Amino acid sequence: MPTYNEAPNVVELVRRISAAVVGREAEIIFVDDSTDDTPDVVRAVAASSRLPIRLIHRAEKTGGLGGAVVEGFRAAQSDTCLVMDGDLQHPPEKIPEMLDRLARADADVVVASRYAGGGTAHGLADRTRVLVSKTSTAVTKAMFPVRLRDVTDPMTGFFAVDRRAIDLATLRPQGFKILLEILARKSLRITEVPFDFADRHAGESKASFLQGGHFIAQLAALRFGKMSLFAVVGGLGAVANLFVVWALTAVGVNYVIAAVIAAELTIVGNFLLIERFVFHDMRHAASTFWWRFAKSFGFNNAEALIRIPIMALMVETWHISSVIATGITLVVAFLVRFVFHSLVVYAPRRTGARPSAARHILEEIDEQAMQPGEI
Ligand code: GDD
Ligand code: MN
Repeated sequence: MPTYNEAPNVVELVRRISAAVVGREAEIIFVDDSTDDTPDVVRAVAASSRLPIRLIHRAEKTGGLGGAVVEGFRAAQSDTCLVMDGDLQHPPEKIPEMLDRLARADADVVVASRYAGGGTAHGLADRTRVLVSKTSTAVTKAMFPVRLRDVTDPMTGFFAVDRRAIDLATLRPQGFKILLEILARKSLRITEVPFDFADRHAGESKASFLQGGHFIAQLAALRFGKMSLFAVVGGLGAVANLFVVWALTAVGVNYVIAAVIAAELTIVGNFLLIERFVFHDMRHAASTFWWRFAKSFGFNNAEALIRIPIMALMVETWHISSVIATGITLVVAFLVRFVFHSLVVYAPRRTGARPSAARHILEEIDEQAMQPGEI
């Protein structure tokens, strides 16, 4: 159970879960990132509970909700793991049916679905959230037509899974959509049971725009792999770059000066985006933020220094427009930039032995370019 500030829900949650799993061997693991008194409440309840209750209070909330779930998988006594929210939107009374379904051993994952026959989503706060939920579900299913063909609700946070069927090391949990991460990474046998998504018992939802951002990045990372995500960021940067060049030349700025201004703005913006969305999983092992920024900024400026004269040459000799010349040179620069960032900017800090051979470098490029996607 991932929890973030769910203190007023814990007692009722444990009561209903305990009643639901009577006669079964089970434990509850709270993986908690709270800033309120949730840990104290959990400890108090654990002291008098028939069910064993464990509390993992994390110092760093790595991966948010999804990271907490993976940590719970690692800590669990049993291979059969059931994930649910800590706010009673997921009715504990559904647990026996889910466990029994998984025990039949013809599925690796049992998904409790709001959208399967008989399920409802009335606990979604308002019409906007219903629309966001339905649209993102449809888009996601369209992006993974094979892996998600048997799931109506890949976004649910209520599911049971046989831990042995998933490869925990390949998961890159970031934010809320941990089930999607599990289902998209590996082909699994999935079955669904419908459920009623209830109103929150107490407290408020932690969903946010930031979670929306994580979700889009997660979709892109799962679908296209790291190199393509880098390309998406580069593409956004290129559009921004073209726009600035166009806007400045339109008001009479010389195209070379316009290109320099556009390049600097794009360099900083791109760096912040790839920090956040492309290489976030490599930041911890890499050098410090400012050192990474220096390397990225240095490289991109050197690249721009080379690119802009080439672009000027193209404009002067081929008489093509400065916008098209910028576009062509940006595309050519893309590959070099990806390789430099994955091998130099986000290289792990050195620990003794120097990686040497050209073969090792090729393997690294391959490794980065082929980060998990789906065929
Ligand atoms: N450990 C930890 N760390 N738990 C977290 C964090 C975090 O950073 N953020 C949220 N949680 C916990 C909450 O305490 C709650 O138990 C659960 O994760 C779900 O969070 P809610 O704040 O209740 O989110 P929601 O109701 O908007 O989202 C639910 O519906 C989504 C589908 O619409 C969840 O079930 C999601 O998993 C689900 O995708
Ligand atoms: Mn909730």
